[in-house]
Amino acid sequence: MIQENIHPSAFKITREDRQLALGQQARLIWFTGLSGSGKSTLANATEQALHRKGFHTYLLDGDNIRTGLNQDLGFSKADRIENIRRIAAVSQLMMDAGLIVISAFISPFISDREMIRDLVGKEHFLEIHVDCPLKVCEERDVKGLYQKARKGLIKDFTGIDSPYEAPENPFLVIKTAEVTAEMAVGQLMKALDKKIKL
Ligand code: PPS
Repeated sequence: MIQENIHPSAFKITREDRQLALGQQARLIWFTGLSGSGKSTLANATEQALHRKGFHTYLLDGDNIRTGLNQDLGFSKADRIENIRRIAAVSQLMMDAGLIVISAFISPFISDREMIRDLVGKEHFLEIHVDCPLKVCEERDVKGLYQKARKGLIKDFTGIDSPYEAPENPFLVIKTAEVTAEMAVGQLMKALDKKIKL
C-alpha cells in the first residue's frame, strides 16, 4: 500500500466548527444524467438560488474539472471511475470546509455513486437524477457530440456505445423534458430546505 506510512492528524478546527461559523450544513448535491440532460443548467441555477439565500456553495462540473484536475482522463470505463473518485475526494474536502457542494457529472455507474455516498455519508449525499430521454438529449445535441458519436467519430459515448445506469432510489428525480429549469429549482429548493439549514 502506498499509504502505508501516512498518518493523518486530527485538525483542531472540525467540520462542525466550520458549519457553525457558516450557519449551514455541509452537503453534496450530486446531479447525474446523460450528456445534454440539463445537469449544468440545473446545477448553476441551484447554486444561484442557494447563493441568493446566503448559503456558501461551490460548483464542480466538467468545465472546471476535466480542463484542470482531471485533464489527463478520457472516457474509458477506468478513466470515468477515476474521474468520479477524484471528484468525490475533492467534494469531501470541500464539505469538510463546511460548504454545500454541487456536482454535475454524467457519473454513469451506480457503483461509483454508491462509492461517493459511502465516502461522504448517506445523510449528506443528495443524489438528483436529471432524467431526460436519450431521444430528447440527442435532438437537443447542444454540443453536436451525439451526431459525432452516431457517426463513430467519438467512441464510448454515454447512451450510444457506453452505458448509463439510472439511480434506483435518488433523493429527487427531475424530468427536464417535462418541467422548466425554474420549476425544477423551485422543487429542489423546497426539498433541500430541511437538509441544509443548521
Ligand atoms: S463522466 O462519465 O462522469 O466521467 O463524464 P463527465 O466528467 O461528466 O464529462 C461529460 C462531458 O464530457 C463531454 N464528453 C463526453 N460525454 C460522454 N461520453 C463521451 N465519450 C464524451 N466525450 C466528451 C460531454 O460534453 C459531457 O458534458 P455534458 O455536460 O454531460 O453534456
